[in-house]
Amino acid sequence: MNLVSKDFVALPAIDAVAVAQEGKPSISVIGLGYVGAVSCACLAHLGFHMTGVDVSLEKVRLVKEGRSPIVEERLGELLAEGVRLGRIDATQNLVAAVLSTDVTFLSVGTPTAPDGSCDLTYVRQASRAIGQALAMKDAFHVVVLRCSVPPGTTLDCVAVEVAAASGKTLGVDFGVAFNPEFLREGVAVADFYAPPKTVVGASDARTEQIVASIYGAVDKKIQLCSIPAAEMVKYVDNVWHATKVAFGNEIGRLCKSLDIDSHEVMNIFVTDTKLHLSPYYLKPGFAFGGSCLPKEVRAVAHLAEARNVDLPLIQSLGVTNHRHIAEAARLIESLNVKRVGFLGVTFKPATDDLRESPTLELMAMLEAKGATLRVYDPNLRFNDNLKGQIAYVRHACPSQARVMDNIEAMCVADAAALTEDCDVVVVSHATDEFRAAVAARRPGLPVVDLARLYKQLPDNDASYQGIAW
Ligand SMILES: NC(=O)c1ccc[n+]([C@@H]2O[C@H](COP(=O)([O-])OP(=O)(O)OC[C@H]3O[C@@H](n4cnc5c(N)ncnc54)[C@H](O)[C@@H]3O)[C@@H](O)[C@H]2O)c1
Repeated sequence: MNLVSKDFVALPAIDAVAVAQEGKPSISVIGLGYVGAVSCACLAHLGFHMTGVDVSLEKVRLVKEGRSPIVEERLGELLAEGVRLGRIDATQNLVAAVLSTDVTFLSVGTPTAPDGSCDLTYVRQASRAIGQALAMKDAFHVVVLRCSVPPGTTLDCVAVEVAAASGKTLGVDFGVAFNPEFLREGVAVADFYAPPKTVVGASDARTEQIVASIYGAVDKKIQLCSIPAAEMVKYVDNVWHATKVAFGNEIGRLCKSLDIDSHEVMNIFVTDTKLHLSPYYLKPGFAFGGSCLPKEVRAVAHLAEARNVDLPLIQSLGVTNHRHIAEAARLIESLNVKRVGFLGVTFKPATDDLRESPTLELMAMLEAKGATLRVYDPNLRFNDNLKGQIAYVRHACPSQARVMDNIEAMCVADAAALTEDCDVVVVSHATDEFRAAVAARRPGLPVVDLARLYKQLPDNDASYQGIAW
């Protein structure tokens, strides 16, 4: 029977994937909930031999009978197919399942503990049991954590528990990997065969290759990274989804108070894939500023307050932005130096606009604490436009008035003159000119990078530090 139907074009035809199972690792899946049951069914459809494990006798019985333990479109169909083809078994015996397979997926629950942290009890228990099984096994085994967990869990909890219970060595006798799950409940089967992304962080090259090969049929561009980065990606994803939902709902509440249809607004908003739904504005860097963002955030917060509409997310944007600038000040002050040189002072590169530049706020904070400031910005020209902006900043931000009064005197002719005349160089713009200036600085001159000058961070350079990386 061919399971492909026109509503699920992404589901691979079983005839095409019913290839010889030799060469494919056999896989045990610990935890037959929303994540584990889908992995079992979908990987069996790709020709893998799967053994599902759960402490729940009911879930084990259902999976063994080819029936779905949860409500999930097409899951029952795929489980039935897997059982009929002899590719799916299920058991309560975790040790036996691990012993009879090459790879173990760990997908037990990670609920919230009373103190708000992530409760790793089930992960720890299952890891210990996997270790007890591996104590009896000679061949290399791979343990893949699929739960959503705090960064560090795979190496500091799973690998440690498995090693302690088995007496085996990570990277030699067994490998660990973190492979987050991004499938949406309800369409998890369709998402499995057309994943938004596949991310694998592994302890060693052999483990990485084994885990990546499992997904080869559904994703040709697997993203390989460190284990903690893979763990963090999963948390960032869900926090981002939550941010979008909360943001959309705040906009909805504000629109309602203004008698505007929020869907009419957001239907237009989401069509902008150049700036809104895009990587733009999402990479960590320095605080937002300029003549629009801070002003508009204040205006929207004020609009809401005037109508008694509570928008904590939008109303806190100014606070979080200010904390980011304060963190830059703290980093620079921690160096205990007097002369601070700034490469870039306008609110972003390629503009001469100084209005609400977060760098000016940072300069004012440092000056108030006694620092001597120097500036080089190739776009600053002391013409009438700039004089008008200086007056604007003096008026809008009284704390920056002293910096504005002296900014012309602080400016030096070029980047080399700046790096020669300071004890720390603070980079506000990621431009080629500033990258070259930082590279040519005298040895040991500290750099505080607010703009992320480099894709790949410098190795072994104790004099370099970034604000959010
Ligand atoms: N539900 C989702 O859509 C989703 C998506 C991505 C990630 N996650 C993460 O994946 C993990 C699993 O989520 P879920 O929704 O599938 O959980 P779930 O509660 O539906 O399933 C977990 C299963 O693990 C079983 N279990 C617990 N301890 C066990 C043990 N020692 N041995 C065998 N079985 C054991 C439980 O009986 C249960 O059936 C969690 O960390 C969750 O945060 C879930």
